[in-house]
Amino acid sequence: MKSDIVSRKEIIILVDSFYTKIKVDFTLGFIFNEVANVNWDKHLPIMYDFWENTLFYIGSYTGNPVKLHTHLHHLTPLNNTHFEQWNKLFLETVDENFEGPNATLIKQRAISISMVLAQKIAQTKKSEQV
Ligand code: HEM
Repeated sequence: MKSDIVSRKEIIILVDSFYTKIKVDFTLGFIFNEVANVNWDKHLPIMYDFWENTLFYIGSYTGNPVKLHTHLHHLTPLNNTHFEQWNKLFLETVDENFEGPNATLIKQRAISISMVLAQKIAQTKKSEQV
């Protein structure tokens, strides 16, 4: 029987497992590894804060994901295939590790945020590049 996400401890397990998949993913890996050349030592703690904030309304995340992903979109186009794969991996990672009300909630929030990001990116025009 799996347990629920109840603290930052589980968020860390979730985020680490998710990006382990992302790094080697055929559709998404190159965006992180090559296009953005992500510094994982910096990115992972930011993501712990982001999800802690999103799920528990605590944590110190203060970034601007819309701006960052819009910028990324201008470096390499992000389309529905990318977002669908991101969603699939995220939901899969939650289900492999956790179950319970917060596990359900974090999946719902991820999908909502993903839809908003995809919509905002689709709305940006070249002239609005950041
Ligand atoms: C097409 C799908 C996506 C791709 C390719 C993608 C890629 C990236 C990349 C390359 C970064 C920058 C990391 C760095 O330079 O340190 C990033 C940051 C981030 N991503 Fe995504 N992402 C995607 C979808 C999402 C979704 C759906 C969410 C939320 C549900 C999300 C949340 C974030 C957050 C919070 C950050 C950190 C922003 C900051 O530094 O403040 N991403 N993403």
